[in-house]
Amino acid sequence: MHPLADAFGRRFPYLRLSIIPACNFRCTYCLPNGYKADPKAAGPLRLDEITRLLTGFQHLGMHKLRITGGEPSLRRDLTDIIATAAAVPGVERIAMTTNGVLLTRRLNEWMDAGLGAINVSMDSLDRACFARITGHDRLDSILQGIDLALARGLPSVKINAVLMRDVNDQQLPAWLDYLRDHAVGVRFIELMQTGDNLDFFRRHHVRAASVMAHLLDSGWRERPRRADAGPARELVHPDYAGHIGIIAPYAKDFCAGCNRLRVTATGDLRLCLFGDFGIPLRHLLQDDADQEALVRAIGGQIGRKEKGHFLHQGHTGITPHLASTGG
Ligand code: 5AD
Ligand code: SF4
Repeated sequence: MHPLADAFGRRFPYLRLSIIPACNFRCTYCLPNGYKADPKAAGPLRLDEITRLLTGFQHLGMHKLRITGGEPSLRRDLTDIIATAAAVPGVERIAMTTNGVLLTRRLNEWMDAGLGAINVSMDSLDRACFARITGHDRLDSILQGIDLALARGLPSVKINAVLMRDVNDQQLPAWLDYLRDHAVGVRFIELMQTGDNLDFFRRHHVRAASVMAHLLDSGWRERPRRADAGPARELVHPDYAGHIGIIAPYAKDFCAGCNRLRVTATGDLRLCLFGDFGIPLRHLLQDDADQEALVRAIGGQIGRKEKGHFLHQGHTGITPHLASTGG
């Protein structure tokens, strides 16, 4: 194995693979008008292509995989994809980001196939607010799905909540109530600008610093960061079963610890969520005989990874919305 490192000494044990660009929700900051398929676009990677891709990344030191979308559970062969990933040697953890709508029905099957972690996108615990954000009144069943994951002992259960001014930024008390007896991690994520959401971003972006300050004032303490930690700053409190993560992409040094690469549903390698280019890999996923060429292609591109994003300058790269790159 030859672990990849970039020009800044960062390593990439973590791959985020989108398996479908479509989503059935219409989150105001992502797909406010719903997902529109591009009739000219190629279909998502098939199972055999995914197997070759993961084997290639495994040779480069990947040991954590996150399956993303769009909404991954819209793929009928999701359970097979999880099982395939679980069979790649060296893949220690398979996580998935989901809107949670199918958890109550499918979680058992996914866990049996090898799923070890979920991040559920859930921006509010208030039913009406949730429905306004996503376009779907599904909060109750998603909460049941999370309870099921906890009851079944899924090793990691997290909730992603995007902070939006005048939408859900005054709801910390409800989250704290929930965290008292739910052993989940809630991650408050600063709204990011993407190619399609500039107006929304200008109206609703709010920094997470005030949430952080409030938590520190009320007895929450920052957990020391592990060397391989992701971008979240994590807070714990002895009176709470759950913990809190703050993801602040506009904070200084956010990218210094970047440990991830992305591949889109059609097999383009993205070195950064907000990068200017994708690197097509799909032609190298058609035949097992191309494995070495695949590994060389990925390794040869890593030097192009920038030190950080240019979001502060309003530069969002080629990402129209995060459904297109898997967030
Ligand atoms: N800013 C911040 N977070 C976003 N997500 C999607 N779009 C944005 C955005 N513009 C979140 C989703 C999901 C995760 C993958 O990214 O809510 O939880
Ligand atoms: Fe990594 Fe790009 Fe995200 Fe920064 S913005 S953490 S460089 S993927």
